[in-house]
Amino acid sequence: MAQTMNETMTRNPHYDILFEPVKIGPVTARNRFYQVPHCAGMGHRYPFANAAHRAIKAEGGWAVVCTEESEIHHSSEISPATESRIWDEKDIPALQLLTDGVHQHGGLAGIELVYIGYHGPNRYSREIPMAPSHTVADSYEPIQARAMNKKDIRNLRRWHRQAAIRARDAGFDIIYAYAGHDMSLPWHFLSKRHNLRMDEYGGSLENRVRLFRELIEDTKDAVGDKCAIAVRLAVDELLGDSGITSDGEGRDIIAMLAELPDLWDVNISNWANDSMTSRFSTEGFQEPYTAFVKSLTTKPVVGVGRFTSPDTMVDQVRRGVLDFIGAARPSIADPFLPNKIESGRENDIRECIGCNICVASDNVVAPIRCTQNPTTGEEWRRGWHPEKIQPARSKESVLVVGGGPAGLECARALALRGYQTTLADSRSSIGGRVALEARLPGLSNWARVRDYRSGQLEQLAGAEVYANSTMDADLVEEFGSDHVVLATGSHWRRDGKGRQHKQPIPGLDYFPVFTPDDLLNPSFNIDDMPSGNIAVYDDDHYYMGGILAEHLAKAGRTVYLITPASEVSTWTQHTLEQGRIQTRLLELDVHILQQRRLERAGSASIETACVYTGRVETVDCQSIVMVTERAPERELYDELTARQDAGGLQKILSIQLIGDALAPGTIAAAVYGGHRCAREFGEEIEIDKAPFKREIPWFSGH
Ligand SMILES: Cc1cc2nc3c(=O)[nH]c(=O)nc-3n(C[C@H](O)[C@H](O)[C@H](O)COP(=O)(O)O)c2cc1C
Ligand code: SF4
Repeated sequence: MAQTMNETMTRNPHYDILFEPVKIGPVTARNRFYQVPHCAGMGHRYPFANAAHRAIKAEGGWAVVCTEESEIHHSSEISPATESRIWDEKDIPALQLLTDGVHQHGGLAGIELVYIGYHGPNRYSREIPMAPSHTVADSYEPIQARAMNKKDIRNLRRWHRQAAIRARDAGFDIIYAYAGHDMSLPWHFLSKRHNLRMDEYGGSLENRVRLFRELIEDTKDAVGDKCAIAVRLAVDELLGDSGITSDGEGRDIIAMLAELPDLWDVNISNWANDSMTSRFSTEGFQEPYTAFVKSLTTKPVVGVGRFTSPDTMVDQVRRGVLDFIGAARPSIADPFLPNKIESGRENDIRECIGCNICVASDNVVAPIRCTQNPTTGEEWRRGWHPEKIQPARSKESVLVVGGGPAGLECARALALRGYQTTLADSRSSIGGRVALEARLPGLSNWARVRDYRSGQLEQLAGAEVYANSTMDADLVEEFGSDHVVLATGSHWRRDGKGRQHKQPIPGLDYFPVFTPDDLLNPSFNIDDMPSGNIAVYDDDHYYMGGILAEHLAKAGRTVYLITPASEVSTWTQHTLEQGRIQTRLLELDVHILQQRRLERAGSASIETACVYTGRVETVDCQSIVMVTERAPERELYDELTARQDAGGLQKILSIQLIGDALAPGTIAAAVYGGHRCAREFGEEIEIDKAPFKREIPWFSGH
C-alpha cells in the first residue's frame, strides 16, 4: 500500500465558503478552486503525461482543471513550444484522455481555445501569420504577419466555432475565448497598439471589441447549451496610457460584454506581469487591477495572484473580489491544496515559492518542472504521485548528511516511505542554501522549500533531525546507520573558473575576492569589504550575480556588474524576470558592463576584455564578488568511499551522493535529486533503458 500523510483532521469552518459549489452557465463547480489555463510543456506531444498531470489536480480537489493554450488551427501555432492542439477531429482522442481523467475525480475540464495570431511564427505549418494590421513579429524573428481581410475574419470565426464543437465532443465542460497576455489574435484586435484598421473591426473600442464579441457569441451558439463559455481577458497591461488599463478600456470592455460569457477569468498582461515572481510581487498582487470586475457583472469571476493562503482566499471571496480562487503556480506546487484545506491540513500545503522554474521549463520547451513539487510532470511517465509513495522495502535505517533542499526532500520522502531516517546538518539551523538565499532581497518566499519539509519531518514518526551536527567519516561510521546519503552541497569558486575561463583568472591571489558564500554568511558584514567600488563578475547568468549587485547597491556601495552576456542575469529571460532585474539595477545606479569578461586583477583595479574583440578596459574596483561556478562538497563522500574501497565500513550497505554535492544546479534540481533518491531507494533500477515510460508517436502519415 502507498504511504500518505495523515488525513483524518477536520476542516476549519472559517474555510467553508471555499467549498461552496458555484454555477457556471450550464455546469456547476463543486468548490471555488479553479486551475486556470497553464502550459505544462507536454500538450499535444505527450498527451498521456499531460492528462495525468491534469487528472492529479482534480484528484487533489480542484473543481475546475483547464488545459494550456490549445491551438485551434494550423495557421496559428507556436511550435516548437508544446501546447495543446485541437486542429481537427484527430486531436479529440488525446484530449479525451484529459477530460476523462479530470471527470474521474469529479472535476470540470476547461479548454482555452487559442488563435495566437502574429505571436506564433508558424515554424511548423509555414503559414503566414495573421494580425489585425500588417506588422513585424513580436520576437526578433525575420517574419511579418499580414493584415486580415473580411474573408479571413469569417474563416477565423468558423475555425473557432468548429474547435468549440470538437472541444465539446472531447468532453470539455468549459470552453474559453481567450484575449490575453498580448499573445492572442482577439487581444490584438482589442488593442489600439496592434489594431490600426479603418473598417468596422478597427478604430473605436466598440469596433475593436467586435471580433471578440462575435467569437464569444459564436461559441455560445455552438455549444452553450452543454458547455459553459468562459472568457479570459487581461484588464491591464501595466503600460499606462499606451496600453489597456483597468480604469480605462479594460473596464469598458468588461462593461460592454458583462453578461455575455458564463464566467470571467481576468488577469493582467503580459505574461511577465501575470506570472510575476515572488521577487517582484506578493500574494494577491493582481487585486488592484481586477477587483472592479465583479461590480460590472453578475457572472462568476476568477482571478489569480499566487494564492496559497486559505485566509487570503476566504478574504477574496468575502470581500467580493473573486468568486473562484484561480491558480496556476499554486496548483503546480501543490495539486492537493484544496483537499488539504478541506481536511484541515492547511499546514501541510506545499506553497509555491514564486520562482518560475515552471515557466522556465515551458520556455525551454521541456516538460514542466517545479522547485517545490518534484513529482510534477512525472505523474504518468514515472508514476509519481505528489502525496503517495511506495512503502519501504526493509526496516533499514538511513543517515542523510546535509539539510539543504536535496537532503531535506530525500529525508522527508524516505521517512514517508517508512525508513528510519536521521538528518544531520552542520549549521545551527537547517535549510542549507535556501535558508541563506531567502535572506536576499525579495527571496523570502524561497524559505518555503525548507519550511514545508521541516514541517513534514516533524510529523513523521521515523524521522529525526539534528542541527549543529558536523559529521566526519569517523562519526558517520560510529553512527551505525545501514545506509548513508550525502547531500553536502557545494561552494562557489573563488578563482574565476567558469564559462569564460576554464582556468583560474590571473592576479587574483593578491586581490580581495569574495564569493556568494561569503556574502550569504549570516555573520558577514558588507562594511568589512574594502572601501571603494565593488565588481560583481557574473559568469553564472542566473539570479545570483544580479541579486548580489542589488544587495550591495542597496547597502550604499558603488557596484560594477560585469557580464560576458548581452544582458544581466540572462537566463532569467526564461523565468520572465530579466527585464525587471535589469531595470532595478539601472535604477539603483549599478554600472552594467555587458559583453565583457574579467581578464585579470591588478593592485587596485581590474581589467575586463570585450568578449568579441578582446579589447581591454580597466575598471576602478577595490574588490570582486566572483559568481562563476560552484564546486561540489564531496570530501566526506570521497573519504567514506575510500574507506570502503580499502575494505572498511562493512556495516554500511550503500553510500550515495545527491543534489549540489553530486552536481551543482538549481534548487529545483536538488529537490528532484533528493526525491528521486528516496523513490529509487532499495528498488531495482534499470539503467540500460530510460527509467520512465515514453510516448512514441505511432500515427505517422495522418
Ligand atoms: C507554467 C505556466 C504556463 C502558463 N501558460 C498559460 C497558458 O497557456 N494560457 C494562459 O492563459 N495563461 C498561462 N499562464 C498564466 C497563468 O494562467 C496565470 O494567469 C498566472 O500564472 C498567474 O496565476 P498564478 O499566480 O496562480 O500562477 C501560465 C502560467 C504558468 C506558471
Ligand atoms: S516552479 Fe516555483 S513558481 Fe512554479 S509552481 Fe513551482 S514553486 Fe511555484
